[in-house]
Amino acid sequence: INEISQELKTALHQYPNFPKDGILFVDFLPIFRIPNLFNKLVLAFKTYVDEKFKGETIDYVVGLESRGFLFGPTLALALNAGFVPVRKRGKLPGEVYEAKYTKEYGDDYFEIQKEAIPEGSTVLIVDDILATGGSAEAAGKLVLDCDATLLGFLFVMELDFLKGRNRLQADSFTLLCGQPKSLGSVH
Ligand code: PRP
Ligand code: MG
Repeated sequence: INEISQELKTALHQYPNFPKDGILFVDFLPIFRIPNLFNKLVLAFKTYVDEKFKGETIDYVVGLESRGFLFGPTLALALNAGFVPVRKRGKLPGEVYEAKYTKEYGDDYFEIQKEAIPEGSTVLIVDDILATGGSAEAAGKLVLDCDATLLGFLFVMELDFLKGRNRLQADSFTLLCGQPKSLGSVH
């Protein structure tokens, strides 16, 4: 996994002062332009999951809108699991659970369809990046609202100095960890 992480890291593009001054933005979209790398991204997660949850069935992969949608369904397929989206408020039809989280410019809400995950299902939550952990924590709450078993969280990147993982309801695994400038070590 370390080797794959290094290779993925070289594909990341960094943009200083985006979306505003003082922020170093790490863009992971270039990974998807290269099928071989996209494949490695999925394989790295699958390798981790197969080892960590040996003998256990993963019923659902839950991906967070928007960037968690880019690889969540592909990973779900690789794990022979279903994919369930967590969406921003007002996008999902039918009955939903709702959870509030805080972004830079105020509160936001995530929702999940109540019928999407049967009680007792095993679930992994995936997203591109773990920063403050607000988004992932809210998603974790939604999964627990469904009375599912939250096995863990998977992220491509983590800004570990923000200590977001301390807020999460289950273990988290990150492919690329650290300060944006030195992303690379596996966590
Ligand atoms: C970004 C990112 C994560 C979240 C991480 O999403 O894709 O989902 O922020 O931040 P946190 O750990 O501090 O909650 P964003 O809300 O910008 O939306 P997007 O995925 O639709 O681009
Ligand atoms: Mg996001």
